[in-house]
Amino acid sequence: MAAEQKDLEVERVAEEMAKDMKAISVAEFFEKNRHLLGYENSTKALITVVKEMIDNGLDACNEAGILPNIDAVVKQVGIDRFRISVEDNGPGIVDTKVPEAFGKLLFGSKFHRLRQSRGTQGIGVKGAVLYSQLTTGKPAAITSSTGDRKVHTFRLMIDTVRNEPHIVSHDTEQNKSGWHGIKIELELEGKYIERSQSIPEYLKQTAIANPYANIKYSGPNGVQKFERATKVMPPQPKEIKPHPYGIELGILKRMAAFTRARNVTGFLTSDFSRVGKRSAEQICLLAKVDPKKDPRKLAAEEYESLHKAMQMVKLIAPPTNCLSPLTQKLIEDGLKKEVEADYYVSITRPPSVYRGNPFQVEVGIAYGGKFDPSATVTLYRFANKVPLLYHQSSCAITDAVAEVDWRRYGLQQSAGNLPTGPAVILVHFASVWVPFTSEGKEAIAKYPEIIKEIKLALQDAGRQLERFVRQQRRARQSQMRRQIFERYIPEVAGALDALTGKDKAKIAKDLESMLKRNNKEIEEEAEKAAQEEQEEQEDAAQNGTAQEGAEKEAKETKETKIEEEDEEIGEDEGEA
Ligand SMILES: Nc1ncnc2c1ncn2[C@@H]1O[C@H](COP(=O)(O)OP(=O)(O)OP(=O)(O)O)[C@@H](O)[C@H]1O
Ligand SMILES: [Mg+2]
Repeated sequence: MAAEQKDLEVERVAEEMAKDMKAISVAEFFEKNRHLLGYENSTKALITVVKEMIDNGLDACNEAGILPNIDAVVKQVGIDRFRISVEDNGPGIVDTKVPEAFGKLLFGSKFHRLRQSRGTQGIGVKGAVLYSQLTTGKPAAITSSTGDRKVHTFRLMIDTVRNEPHIVSHDTEQNKSGWHGIKIELELEGKYIERSQSIPEYLKQTAIANPYANIKYSGPNGVQKFERATKVMPPQPKEIKPHPYGIELGILKRMAAFTRARNVTGFLTSDFSRVGKRSAEQICLLAKVDPKKDPRKLAAEEYESLHKAMQMVKLIAPPTNCLSPLTQKLIEDGLKKEVEADYYVSITRPPSVYRGNPFQVEVGIAYGGKFDPSATVTLYRFANKVPLLYHQSSCAITDAVAEVDWRRYGLQQSAGNLPTGPAVILVHFASVWVPFTSEGKEAIAKYPEIIKEIKLALQDAGRQLERFVRQQRRARQSQMRRQIFERYIPEVAGALDALTGKDKAKIAKDLESMLKRNNKEIEEEAEKAAQEEQEEQEDAAQNGTAQEGAEKEAKETKETKIEEEDEEIGEDEGEA
C-alpha cells in the first residue's frame, strides 16, 4: 500500500514538472546571463557597448570597401549614466532589416559565411541594446541610410520573451546630403575610466590594427582623434565553402538535407571546398556509399561512414583567400602611429589550418623608446583586427608568448612567464572562425595548432629583435669606452707635454685621432664576429627545419597536383 502511494506521488510531481516546462528565449537567457556577453560590471559594460558598435561599423565599411570614418561620443548624463552614440560611414542597412539586426538575438549576416570578419555570432550589438534597456528602461535609436533618398530612424527595444524587436517609433526623413551609414544611440548605466582596460585603450589598439580608419572620439575628458596612417585597405576576404576536415556529423547531415545536388558525388564536390570528382569517388568507395544516391535520402549509418571517410581521404588544405591579414607593412604602420619606440619588426606567417578552419598569425614588436626596461612587456592581442582587452591569462596568445624563450632574443624572462623588457608585443590571429572561449569574445581557445603557429611567428620576430638589441648594446659599450678615454686625453697630453716638451694641443689631437681609428677597428671586428655568430645560428635553425620543410613542400606539391586535376573534373560534376 505504501509503495502504491509513493508511485502516485512520483507521478504527481512529474505532472507538476511537465506543467512548468517551456522553451526559453535566447534573449531571456542572455538577459539573465549578461556576464557571458561582457556585461558583468559597469566599467566593462561601457567599453563593451562602444566596442560592439565600432566593430560592426568597421566590418560594414570593410565589406563595402569604404575607408572607415567612425565618430564615437560618450557623454555622462548622470552619476552612473552615460549616453553613447557611434556613427559610421558604411553601407547602412536596408530599413526592413534594421529592427531585427538590432532587436533580435542570433540575427546577422556573418554567421553562415566562412570568411574573416570581426563579428560572427549575430549577438554583439543586441547585447548592447539589451543591457541599455535593462539598466535604463529606454529604447535604442538607430538611424540608417543606404545612401538613397531616405534616412530611417527607429527607436526600438527587445521583447525578450519572444526574442523579437519591439518598434517604439519609425520616422523617415529626406536624405539631402546622400549620407550612408549607421548611427546608433543608447543610454546605459556605466562607470568611466581611462586607465589600462578602457575605451581610449580599446581605440588606441583598434587604430593600430586598422591603420586605414579615421576614428574620432569625444569622451567625458575631451576629444581624441586617431587619424588614418594609410589609405590602403587590405584585400577583401573571399567566402569559402566548408572543408571536409573541419565538418562535424550533424552539420554534414544538415548540409545534405538542404543541398541542391542530385547525387552524393555532386553534393561532395559542389558543397565542400577542395573536393574534386576523384576525391568524391574515393570518399564514397571508402564509405561504401553509392555515389549516385540522393544525398538527402541516405541511411543514418551511411552519413556516419561518409563522415568518417571524409576525414580519411587526402585533400589539400582549404583556400586561404578567405583571410584578410594585416600584412607586415600595415602592422608596422599601425605600431609606428600609436607606439613610440626605437625599433619595429613585424612578421606575417603563411596561413595554416585548425579543425578545417584556415587561420593566419601575425606578430609585431616595438622595442625601446620610453618603455620601462624592468616591467613586463605590454601584450596587445587581436582577433580579426579586434583588440582583446580582457581574460589575458585564458588566451592562447598569452600562453604562446610565455612559452617562447625570450632570453635568446634580448629580453629578460622567468620560466613560464611573459618576458620583461622595454617592448610591446602584438599578436594578430586572423581566421574565418575565431574559437573564442565565450560569447563575450575576449580570449582565444588554446588549440595546440594555434599556439604552435603563434610561437613560430614570435620566434621569427624575436630573431630580428635580438640582432637590434645586440647592435644597440655594442654601440652603447663603444660609446662608454670612448667617453672614458676622451676624459683622460687632456691629462695624458699634459703629462706627455711635460715629459717630451712637445705641443700639448698637438698631442691631444693625435690621441683623439688614434682613439677614433682604434674604435673603428674594434667596432668592425665586433660587427664581423656578430655577423658570423648570427649566420651560424641561422644555419643551425635552418638545418633543423630544412628537412621537415622539404618533406612538407614535396608532399604539398604532390597533393596539389593530384587535387588540381581532380578539381577541374569535380567542378563540372558539381554543377551537373
Ligand atoms: N554598422 C553597421 N552597418 C551595417 N550593418 C550592420 C551594422 N551593425 C550591424 N549590422 C548588421 O547587423 C548584424 C547584427 O550585428 P551584431 O553585432 O548583432 O552581430 P554580428 O556583428 O553579425 O556578430 P557578433 O555577435 O559577433 O557581433 C550584422 O551581422 C550586420 O549584418
Ligand atoms: Mg557585431
